[in-house]
Amino acid sequence: MAGTAVAYSTRHGSTQRYAAWLAQDLDADLLEADGLSRERLAGHDTVVVLSPVYAGRVADAAVLRDPSGPLGGHRVALVMVGMTPPDSPERAETVANNLPQATLEQISVFHLRGAIDYQALSRLERVLMRFANWRLRSQARRHPTPENTAAAAQAGVSADHVDRAALGPVLAWARGEGG
Ligand SMILES: Cc1cc2nc3c(=O)[nH]c(=O)nc-3n(C[C@H](O)[C@H](O)[C@H](O)COP(=O)(O)O)c2cc1C
Repeated sequence: MAGTAVAYSTRHGSTQRYAAWLAQDLDADLLEADGLSRERLAGHDTVVVLSPVYAGRVADAAVLRDPSGPLGGHRVALVMVGMTPPDSPERAETVANNLPQATLEQISVFHLRGAIDYQALSRLERVLMRFANWRLRSQARRHPTPENTAAAAQAGVSADHVDRAALGPVLAWARGEGG
């Protein structure tokens, strides 16, 4: 689709996989979010930013928050890639913690599930995940809801939830279909 750019950042590749599929399906330019500039985005009305979540932080929140930055004046969607289920309350919390209301009124937000390979993590990432997984397990002990129990069972387990079909709503948004 002429006039569309797909920008992404990644550490371990899952967000990049989604971004490459999206760019292919939309016939869009594929860019690294790190190097976004007004010049790079000139001629692109629509920009989809795919961003992984690390320790509650959306990797590209800063550029999305900045109304005078390179995304200002474009039609923008954020696709958040993380391991928490897309419909979990934690997702809404992460959005609210990373982006002010003024930004959220301007952009569309989508949630996709990513992948984690514990063998591929850095030492720091392993420490962070040990803490995050300990929190999930103690949460499940205190509040053994089906969601918490399922999350605790998955804690510490490598998994790949990357699914091309899950991009459907993002594709529809980028094509301007159905609102
Ligand atoms: C150290 C660390 C912290 C993470 N924190 C979160 C988190 O707060 N919320 C979440 O949904 N996923 C979290 N994840 C999972 C990543 O978002 C997921 O693995 C994602 O697919 C990574 O994207 P990438 O492969 O493009 O780097 C974390 C993963 C790691 C290694």
